[in-house]
Amino acid sequence: MKKSIVLTFLSILIFSCNNSKSKEYTAFEKKMEAKKHPGKKLMETNCYTCHSPTASQEDRIGPPMVAIKKHYINENTSKEEFIAAMQSWIKNPNAEDAKMFGAVKRFGVMPKQAFPEETIFQISDYMFDFDIEQPEWFENHFNQERGKGKGQGKGKGMNMQQAQTNFDTLPYGERGLKYALSTKAVLGKNLMGTIQKKGTLEALAFCNEKAYPLTDSMSVVHQATIKRVSDKPRNQNNKANNKELAYINSFKKDIKNNMEPKPIVDQLDNKVHVYYPITTNAMCLQCHGKPEQDITKPTLSKLTSLYPQDKATGYTINEVRGIWSITFDK
Ligand code: HEC
Ligand code: HEC
Repeated sequence: MKKSIVLTFLSILIFSCNNSKSKEYTAFEKKMEAKKHPGKKLMETNCYTCHSPTASQEDRIGPPMVAIKKHYINENTSKEEFIAAMQSWIKNPNAEDAKMFGAVKRFGVMPKQAFPEETIFQISDYMFDFDIEQPEWFENHFNQERGKGKGQGKGKGMNMQQAQTNFDTLPYGERGLKYALSTKAVLGKNLMGTIQKKGTLEALAFCNEKAYPLTDSMSVVHQATIKRVSDKPRNQNNKANNKELAYINSFKKDIKNNMEPKPIVDQLDNKVHVYYPITTNAMCLQCHGKPEQDITKPTLSKLTSLYPQDKATGYTINEVRGIWSITFDK
């Protein structure tokens, strides 16, 4: 009797796998594979500040990744060719080599930033093999639903706002990183937007007046304390404490050794602290680079009058400008 029940159950399982479910299962497997691919997270961490799939048309500061994919891959492009094209663009973004003329016109050429070759390799490998149109929240939700045994693919109706603030189920390091990156996206969007539309001096005024309140408002959104701190602060309120200084030094080593940094997680009593580096790119130098070489005279004099104790100059690209210091309840 028992045996026959088991057998019936098994045959139902096998039967159902072989039939209607099989297509869905393949799609699900593909999703799991995409989720596991290291390029996915590297892309979200390093490229989505500007190439976000979800920023609205007016809020964009760069084309979405899927548009880049379309410009770089046609039916004759091999994966090797695509990866090589990405590596070469990243090493030297310039108007002459750009394929996306409309984007260059609208946003200006992509600022030069240093990325480890391995990072770009993984990102390109991921972009080539997987569909990247899907908003990021979909997979999490999809898997959660599946985990609860509620069936698959019910996430379609969920809206972005809900999804983006629902980071509570992630491991602490990733959760802290999401808080940091979403704040970076808000600051970056406003900063790049202001530079593009109104120039450096206006952008400087923006940083002076808005960097703090914007960071604070993201703290409220995420119910966490979100701070940017530095060993060479411009605003003295952003001075790193001893512990943060130690982490800054350890991130400096990672960056110098061309290693992809990982969030540092500290747990104290009922609080979690997460740290992640903030690195410079070409765009930062107009306010954080070498005085009179990268920073123009008018910008410099405005900086000196606003921040008489400014230590945040003299940087080149791909240096640790500071860290995100994030605290939330367990
Ligand atoms: C600070 C903002 C910013 C970040 C971060 C950024 N990009 Fe870009 N990128 C842009 C902008 C703006 C454009 C559009 C102008 C252009 O094409 O140069 C662009 C265009 C591109 C293009 C198309 C170039 C062309 O016109 O042919 C590629 C490829 C690209 N980005 C790859 C990446 C990758 C990969 C990453 C992450 C490792 C990344 N970008 C991170 C701003 C950024
Ligand atoms: C238009 C000028 C401008 C640009 C461009 C700019 N910054 Fe800043 N930055 C500022 C100002 C002004 C402050 C001080 C903000 C305040 O008073 O809260 C600041 C503060 C910071 C801080 C907080 C720590 C401190 O020193 O007070 C970090 C971290 C930082 N900038 C990183 C960057 C990075 C990384 C880039 C490039 C992606 C960048 N900035 C681009 C003007 C700029």
